[in-house]
Amino acid sequence: MNATQEKLKVQLEQALVAAFGADFAGVDPILVSASNPKFGDYQANVALSLSKKLGKQPRAIAAAIVDKLDVSEICEPPEIAGPGFINLKLKTAYLEAQLNAIQADPRLGVPAVKTPKREIVDFSSPNIAKEMHVGHLRSTIIGDSIARILEFQGHDVLRLNHVGDWGTQFGMLIAYLREVYPEALTTANALDIGDLVSFYRKAKLRFDTDAAFQETARQEVVRLQAGAEDTIHAWKLLCEQSRREFQIIYDLLDVQVIERGESFYNPLLSGVVEDLDKSGLLVENQGAKCVFLDGFTNREGEPLPLIVQKSNGGYNYATTDLASLRYRIQQDKAKRIIYVTDAGQANHFAQFFQVAGKAGWIPDDVELVHIPFGLVLGEDGKKFKTRSGDTVRLRDLLDEAVSRAHADLKARLQEEERQETEEFINEVARVVGISAVKYADLSQNRTSSYIFSYDKMLDFKGNTAPYMLYAYARIQGISRKGDINFKELGNDAVLLEHETELALAKYLLQLDEVISSVEQDLLPNRLCEYLYELSKKFNQFYDRNQGVQVLEAEEPQRTSRLVLCDLTARTLKLGLSLLGIQVLERM
Ligand code: ARG
Repeated sequence: MNATQEKLKVQLEQALVAAFGADFAGVDPILVSASNPKFGDYQANVALSLSKKLGKQPRAIAAAIVDKLDVSEICEPPEIAGPGFINLKLKTAYLEAQLNAIQADPRLGVPAVKTPKREIVDFSSPNIAKEMHVGHLRSTIIGDSIARILEFQGHDVLRLNHVGDWGTQFGMLIAYLREVYPEALTTANALDIGDLVSFYRKAKLRFDTDAAFQETARQEVVRLQAGAEDTIHAWKLLCEQSRREFQIIYDLLDVQVIERGESFYNPLLSGVVEDLDKSGLLVENQGAKCVFLDGFTNREGEPLPLIVQKSNGGYNYATTDLASLRYRIQQDKAKRIIYVTDAGQANHFAQFFQVAGKAGWIPDDVELVHIPFGLVLGEDGKKFKTRSGDTVRLRDLLDEAVSRAHADLKARLQEEERQETEEFINEVARVVGISAVKYADLSQNRTSSYIFSYDKMLDFKGNTAPYMLYAYARIQGISRKGDINFKELGNDAVLLEHETELALAKYLLQLDEVISSVEQDLLPNRLCEYLYELSKKFNQFYDRNQGVQVLEAEEPQRTSRLVLCDLTARTLKLGLSLLGIQVLERM
């Protein structure tokens, strides 16, 4: 067994448990990373926790465990310290062997899962006829990264875009357009999304103030739901227009997602209500059909109902989510469904999850997870807006990031007196700008709100995409400068001598632990932290004597250090790709 099959920490834990003997097989060895590298790499605190139970001194217990502990292939002889900590220090020969093994592995020692699962990531999900906003940007970036990580792990991932493409807003919009711009409803490409959004606003205003218009709009909804040909045609055109605009954003971000909007589930909505009725959960409340919820009350402290059918017969957002949930379990055979939306929708998810649970629609082996995220704030700490107070168009936001990266690069080239082609400059600016936006989002714990700052995210120093991209490009620079083909380095070459080499080596071997933790907690910021730490460890290793230690070292050190460079670059490239970030060979 080696680290590419079983995680190192798990191996050590198993060895400790084996040393406890059968009577204590269930005891947690309490293995943690050592607080100070002087004492080793790991520390087991189990002797202290067992002391009370056994009525013995922790040091004596630790000694008994160490006596039976067999980790000689991985660690130096264990040491007992302080009141009874067991300190474990990884053997250099072990680390060298592990690195030699991952060098030949395109997955860098991260095994694919043994039992792949069918998983759905429901993300992005903007609304037709409305502009995609920063909340959708967060959902798109976070959802894409989670999907990439699960796919890399070998899971069978279905990426779904639950687009808001159905409902009363279309009645309003179509009724309004029939009056003021009927061509838009019969001719393709007559509108762009900007027009659509402003028509939508005007239609809404009309709807709120004009009773006769309200009635016409309702009629349009009825016609839409009944499938009236001209209304359906108009609806399709409107969806088409929005879709084109969304696609521009997905292309810029390099995000793949399958559109399966709310309208898809329309034929299933009446069945949801019928089945809730059959299971005895449905209650009529002032003409509306609803299910009462546990643990949710209104302001007066009365139990809160989830309305699944309004008194006028219309269905709600939650009804559609109940229908889609059943479809995803029954037809898509999903075992885990992950919903990526802002934290403001937490109640919505908790509520329809509860109703589906009560109705018996969630088999034991299916897991539903809402993963909430916080807001994007402007530098003033308030909701992110343009200077004139409008919502920021995503296209403008991404373009701005790229054009700032462009300007920064030009200034840098001038300073360094470098000549580069226009093509090179544009490509570097594109990658830097887009990755900066993605990384700034992903590197935050997604549950907190963050302040959107172009200056911070484009900074070459600090926990940013440019910092990481630069570390990668720097390594590729070594191969160019020394005319070295990283693929042709020997494969038994690693030799760890200096402290900075050992630190880097240990870090390189932790990628699989990090990836499985993201799989479980769905927090991509853990991967960001890891990559940032890795870049720092690399820079410490490389900056020792300005990198002279690498290219100008004697053999066998030279090749060993080049292997460390290559492994770092490959880890960065792989890790960044799981965040949806592309690397640059030169920048
Ligand atoms: N369209 C919704 C919005 O813009 C997000 C949909 C999220 N997915 C879901 N299954 N409810 O807020």
